[in-house]
Amino acid sequence: MRFPRLLAAAGALTLLVAPACGAEKPDPATKVEVFTWWADGDEKAGLDALVGRFTAGCPGHEFENGAVAGGAGVNAKQVLAARIQRNDPPDTFQVHAGAELDDYIAAGRVQDLTADYAGWGLRQALPPGLVEDLTVNGKIYSVPADIHRANVVWSNPELLAGAGITRPPATLGALMADLAALKRSGVEEPLALGRDWTQLMLLEAVLISDLGAEGFAGLFNGATDWGGSAVTGALEDYAALLAYSNADRDSRDWPDARRLLTDGKAAYLVMGDWAAADGLGHFTFPGNGRVFQWLADSFVLPTGAPNPAGTRCWLRTVASADGQRAFNRAKGSIPARTDVGGEGFSAYQVGAMADWRSGTPVPSCAHGSACTQDWQNAVNAALGVFSTATEKDLAGLQQALAATAARYIRG
Ligand code: GAL
Repeated sequence: MRFPRLLAAAGALTLLVAPACGAEKPDPATKVEVFTWWADGDEKAGLDALVGRFTAGCPGHEFENGAVAGGAGVNAKQVLAARIQRNDPPDTFQVHAGAELDDYIAAGRVQDLTADYAGWGLRQALPPGLVEDLTVNGKIYSVPADIHRANVVWSNPELLAGAGITRPPATLGALMADLAALKRSGVEEPLALGRDWTQLMLLEAVLISDLGAEGFAGLFNGATDWGGSAVTGALEDYAALLAYSNADRDSRDWPDARRLLTDGKAAYLVMGDWAAADGLGHFTFPGNGRVFQWLADSFVLPTGAPNPAGTRCWLRTVASADGQRAFNRAKGSIPARTDVGGEGFSAYQVGAMADWRSGTPVPSCAHGSACTQDWQNAVNAALGVFSTATEKDLAGLQQALAATAARYIRG
């Protein structure tokens, strides 16, 4: 069981992003505004599938799309924070299961759903470890829709063949050797990379390889020293990988980074399994062994939600086996429920279901299961500074990461 941290002061909110609304304006009395960052591609397809189940199962309630585009919620989270500050919450919003919820819970911004869990039989339907991660002071505040895996490498098979690479690299060293071979074969920037949070995903994968599952998990509960030599080594590896990536990384969201792969400009991309696409190869990040770095999208009932009955029907849809089947088939993730079989899912997803059952789970900071939003923002900022600097200051980066952890780890 985790305990909520104190609410950190809300940062300055400068970004203005217009929510993407559906063509028709639903009746304010019956609408359920669902706030996500799923505005395009498979993310939108997943949301649409869920909306289909909601519309069929919740007569008298109407879905209103409150999506704000931007991978991993980079824009949505700022818009949401501003709305919550001015007591204008949507009926429900997307938030990662785990530490990312802590501040909302501590500030009383989300309602206790423990009794609903019992009514919906949800506690038994979810893996016990996930229920434990969702439980804060004995209560549960969100309904998970999915499980995604973060530590996956996607590849362009033609470019690999052109460089004479015939099998996935088994170690970090082998990955570096592949990247060097790709460069020799004429692929200038063989590792596709995007902005801040995608850089954090790469760093986390390297840390899992260099520190192991336990050492990695310890980075977020105080058991592993961010200032230690193991982290120094991992940062050196991270810097070496960064040197193989596209120079314009800081301006790319994840779909633009994946485009480098599908356009044949880069051969490897470290990205969660929302990035699955026909024609791309995939393997677990080298050296991660059987570690399944997980994250889960979940939905909440905010305090002051205008239509709590409608929201409860949305949450019940998200919680249902039917809803999870429809949503995850389209989105590329796997159901959080353990009682949804693999029929109708892709070969990748069926493999992910087996890996999730048998692998070693570790959480993700880039996607909120390991660290709070403020902690993640601070790490992303440090990585952004490192990415743009011409002189790479590894010691400075390590100091910034260690100081951030010291600020946010509480006993
Ligand atoms: C994650 C989210 C995924 C996917 C991804 C890219 O944070 O959990 O569902 O949407 O961002 O936008």
